[in-house]
Amino acid sequence: MARVLLGATGSVAAIKVPELYATLRDAGHSVRIVATEPALYFFGPNELIGDAAEQVLYRDADEWPSEGWSRGDLVVHIALREWADVFVLAPLDANTLAKMAMGLCDNCLTCVLRAWDFARPIVLAPAMNTRMWESPITRRHLGQILADHGDGRQSQGWSLDEASEVFAKHASKVVLIAPQAKRLACGDFGVGAMAAVPLIAEAVRRWGAG
Ligand SMILES: Cc1cc2nc3c(=O)[nH]c(=O)nc-3n(C[C@H](O)[C@H](O)[C@H](O)COP(=O)(O)O)c2cc1C
Repeated sequence: MARVLLGATGSVAAIKVPELYATLRDAGHSVRIVATEPALYFFGPNELIGDAAEQVLYRDADEWPSEGWSRGDLVVHIALREWADVFVLAPLDANTLAKMAMGLCDNCLTCVLRAWDFARPIVLAPAMNTRMWESPITRRHLGQILADHGDGRQSQGWSLDEASEVFAKHASKVVLIAPQAKRLACGDFGVGAMAAVPLIAEAVRRWGAG
């Protein structure tokens, strides 16, 4: 079973984080969560039922403790990177997708991402409003991630509908689980909802061992 680092960002789909966490734990994985502050608007630490002896949730305050950093203290984002066999970004919102594509790292989660060893698998489960998903910006950012972490042999002419297959073929360690079409929290109907929890758990089962 794998050590799974679950990265949660500020999509409304973060309400599913406790369910995804429980599903991964029930499957026998060891799970830690690194969450952005907007993600924590949608779920609370008390929803994560786990081993009380172990720290499960990591947030920016853990990276920047109020008493300051001293030599020998943990660098949290590097420690998490080293701990994890697989990094699961679910939900991955438009903002953090953009940061990933550009290499920005201004919080604990994006620092793990920037420091990630791409020889290890990373699972991306985007979730956003349909117009955000269908924007040419999304295609551009996914294309950049593919260019940075793929085999360099993919053609330019793929559409968002084909993105998961293109990643599977040309960036085997970057697993893209495309969003699904349904009525979104904002009331719009269309593609953008995070993939179902069992689908994400199945991706971890298949790729989690590296
Ligand atoms: C109620 C609410 C729901 C949101 N849902 C989404 C969403 O599903 N997808 C998305 O990309 N952004 C969504 N956002 C916007 C993000 O929270 C915002 O871009 C935030 O800066 C993301 O920060 P993070 O990537 O550091 O978590 C939502 C914001 C609010 C207030």
